[in-house]
Amino acid sequence: MTARGNRDRGHLARPRDAGGTLAVRVRPFVVAIDGPAASGKGTLARCLAERFSFAHLDSGKLYRATALLVLAAGADPADPDAAVAGARRISPAALGDPRLTSEAVARASSILSALPAVRAELLTMQRDFAAHPPVLAGDVTPRGAVIDGRDIGTVVCPDAAVKLFVTASPAMRAERRVKELRERGAPAIYGDVLRDMKERDARDSLRRVAPLAAAPDAVTIDTTGLDAGQVFEQASDIIARALAAHRL
Ligand code: C5P
Repeated sequence: MTARGNRDRGHLARPRDAGGTLAVRVRPFVVAIDGPAASGKGTLARCLAERFSFAHLDSGKLYRATALLVLAAGADPADPDAAVAGARRISPAALGDPRLTSEAVARASSILSALPAVRAELLTMQRDFAAHPPVLAGDVTPRGAVIDGRDIGTVVCPDAAVKLFVTASPAMRAERRVKELRERGAPAIYGDVLRDMKERDARDSLRRVAPLAAAPDAVTIDTTGLDAGQVFEQASDIIARALAAHRL
């Protein structure tokens, strides 16, 4: 979740009107973005949220924060009780922990994300965010939400107004991840990153519950060979047309 969507009252906050009473409003416009690791969906989601003044939730952070809490407790990410306990302890502060980006946390998050009880626990938080996007900086009530992950268009928000499936070749995604890690000063060997990524893709795609998949009504954007600006333009056009169709 971006810092803007995560102020003071946390990600479950509901907008209030000037008089302090709960505001009555129509169902928020939801943009669901799914795709594999390092496909560019995170950057795209952040930029789209900014462009359309929507709240943003990076749902991967919920799984990563759960994983970090489990690892910090010395527990096994494959242990359902430990993983559910971790999911219940997520706080806005945990979602901002810099250790969430480590490869060890990524690996553990993909292991515990296959557990149905963990997914059920995190589903409620994500649906609540979609139904009540938190107020943005400057107390602006967002007119919608952008949520990115693996199962947003298929399970979390099957009624989303726009569904995008963002993908790229494994080689391109591994290259991007290596660059990102090196920019952060972390050591990264291309072959290792590619192997870990393929392993995580397989676990995410083959799990029984809510596997990584494009919803039948999603628009697929293959970002191989495209830069972030080109992807942003394509996605912005799709959203602008959907907003016009919804007369928003
Ligand atoms: O998107 P990110 O790489 O941060 O996600 C970390 C892991 O969390 C993924 O590999 C996946 O196993 C899990 N995840 C998920 N469903 C989501 C978002 C993330 O299973 N909606």
